[in-house]
Amino acid sequence: MRRIPLSLLLASSLMLGAAGSARADGDAAHGKTLFSRCSTCHTVTNQNKVGPTLAGVVGRKAGTVEGARYSKALPASGIVWDDQNLDSFLTDPAKLVPGTTMMVKLPNAQDRADIIAYLKTIPAP
Ligand code: HEC
Repeated sequence: MRRIPLSLLLASSLMLGAAGSARADGDAAHGKTLFSRCSTCHTVTNQNKVGPTLAGVVGRKAGTVEGARYSKALPASGIVWDDQNLDSFLTDPAKLVPGTTMMVKLPNAQDRADIIAYLKTIPAP
C-alpha cells in the first residue's frame, strides 16, 4: 500500500492555498470541534468503533483498517483518500460509494474543509 508522506500533503495544501482554493482554507482547530459529529463512530487513535479509526485516513486506501467492520462496497471502491474524494464522500457518502454504511453527510463546504484539515494533522497510529 502506498502512503503519501504528511509533509507532501502539507506542502501540496500550501500550494493549493496559494492558488486560492477554498478547500485549502480548512481550519483544523475548528475541524477538531466539528469532529464531535464523527466521534460517536470514529476515533483518531488506534481504536475502531462502529466505524474505522480516522487516524492517518488521508492518503490511506479506503476500507483497509485492520479489524474494522466495513461494507463490501468501501474496500471495493479502490479509493485512496485525498482532499477531493473526502470532500465528495462527506457531502454524500452513498453517492460516491453506493452501498456504503457510512451515512453522515456534511452539507456545509467549509465544515468539510475544516474536518479534512483536522484529519490531515493526525498521523496513522
Ligand atoms: C453513525 C456512525 C458514523 C458517524 C457518526 C460517522 N461515520 Fe464515518 N463511517 C462509519 C462507518 C460504519 C464507516 C464504514 C463504511 C463502510 O464500510 O462502507 C465509515 C467510514 C468512514 C470513512 C472511510 C474510512 C476508511 O477507512 O476508508 C471516512 C473518511 C469517514 N467515515 C469519515 C467520517 C467523518 C469525517 C465523520 C464526521 C463528520 C463521520 N465519518 C461520521 C460510521 C460513521
